[in-house]
Amino acid sequence: MAQVIQLDPERPDQEAIERAAAVINGGGLVAFPTETVYGLGADAMNASAVQKIFEAKARPADNPLIVHVGDRDMLNDVASGVTESGELLIRKFWPGPLTLVLERRSQVTSAVSAGLPTVAVRMPRNNIALALIRCAGTPIAAPSANISGRPSPTRASHVIEDLSTRIDIILDGGTTNIGIESTVLDMTSVPPAILRPGWITAEMLNELIGPVECATSDEELRRSPGTRHRHYSPRARVVLIERGSAEFIERVCRGHLAEGGVGFIGHTPMVIDDASFSSIQIGERAEDYAYSIYPGLRELDKKSPAVIVVEGLSGDGRVVAVMDRLRRAASETGRQKEF
Ligand code: TXA
Ligand code: MG
Repeated sequence: MAQVIQLDPERPDQEAIERAAAVINGGGLVAFPTETVYGLGADAMNASAVQKIFEAKARPADNPLIVHVGDRDMLNDVASGVTESGELLIRKFWPGPLTLVLERRSQVTSAVSAGLPTVAVRMPRNNIALALIRCAGTPIAAPSANISGRPSPTRASHVIEDLSTRIDIILDGGTTNIGIESTVLDMTSVPPAILRPGWITAEMLNELIGPVECATSDEELRRSPGTRHRHYSPRARVVLIERGSAEFIERVCRGHLAEGGVGFIGHTPMVIDDASFSSIQIGERAEDYAYSIYPGLRELDKKSPAVIVVEGLSGDGRVVAVMDRLRRAASETGRQKEF
C-alpha cells in the first residue's frame, strides 16, 4: 500500500519531501500534485523506474510521458534545440501548464518518449512538485496518476482509488487548481503545433510567438501518440450534448433511464424524479468545467449508471480544452478517445 503524506501546498514539510525524493532516487514511484492534475512520477533518467510507470498505469508503451523539470537549467539535461520562441514561452509561462516538445537528449531514457527522438517537458507551478524535483535533483517523468483511460486525478483520493496498491508514496497537496492537463506544444515543427489544447490557449501562444497550428489532421494526431488511445472515461458510457435546451437535455436523460441508471453533469439544473437518476450542477465558465469535470465523472460513476450525460460548452479559448476532454471521454470508437 502506498504511504499517503499530507502536505501544506504552499510550504511542504522538508522531511517528507526528502523521503519522497529518496524513493524517486531509488527507482520508485511517487504521486504528487501539480497545478493541472496529479502526476505519477519516476526518475526520467532511470529506464527501469520509467518502465514501472507504464506497468502501474497499464499504459500502452507507445504513449510517451511528460518530463517535469524543477528549473530552467534542468531543461538542458533533458532537451536541446530550444528556439528563440521556445525561450520566450519558457520565460512567460513556466512554471505553468505549458508542455513543450523538444529534441530529446540521450541521457533521458528513450522509454520516456516511447522511442521518439523528441521529449515533452514542462515546469509545474506547484510548490510540492517543484520541491520534490529539486530535492531529487533529477527530472521526473510523470503522466497523470490514473489507471490508463480513467479520468485524470484532481485530488489524492482519486490517486488512492486507482493506484494505491501499485506505487510507493502519494503526496497529498489537496485539490489541483486547474483540473485538466497542460497544453502540449510541438516546438520541433514550423510553425509550432498544439498537440493537446489546454489552459495556455492558441490565442495566448499566438500573441507571444506568432502563428501556431492546431493539430487536428490525422498526420498531426500521429505526432502525439497518446491521442490514439481511449481516455478520460468513467466506466459508464458518456453521452455528450454539445448544445441543447434544458428540455432537450431532460429528454435525453429520460431516454436513457431504461438502460439502468443515468448520471448528468452540466450547468443546466436538472431534476428528474427517479431513483436511478443523479445529477451534478456546475458553473458555466470553462474554469468551472475544468475544475469539476473529472471529479464529477468519478463521483457519478460510483453509482454505476449505464450512461452519463454531459452538457458541453461552446466558445473558444479555454472552452476548446474542456471540449477536447469531453469529446474524448464521450467518443465510442476511434483514435481520439485517449491521451
Ligand atoms: O498537466 C499535465 O500535462 C499532466 C501533469 C501530471 O503534468 N500530465 C499529463 O501526462 O497529462 P499524460 O501522460 O497523461 O499526457 C502526456 C501527453 C500525451 O498526450 C502524449 O501523447 C504527449 O503528452 N506527449 C508526450 N511526449 C510526447 C512527445 N515526445 N511527442 C508528442 N507528444 C508527446
Ligand atoms: Mg493522462
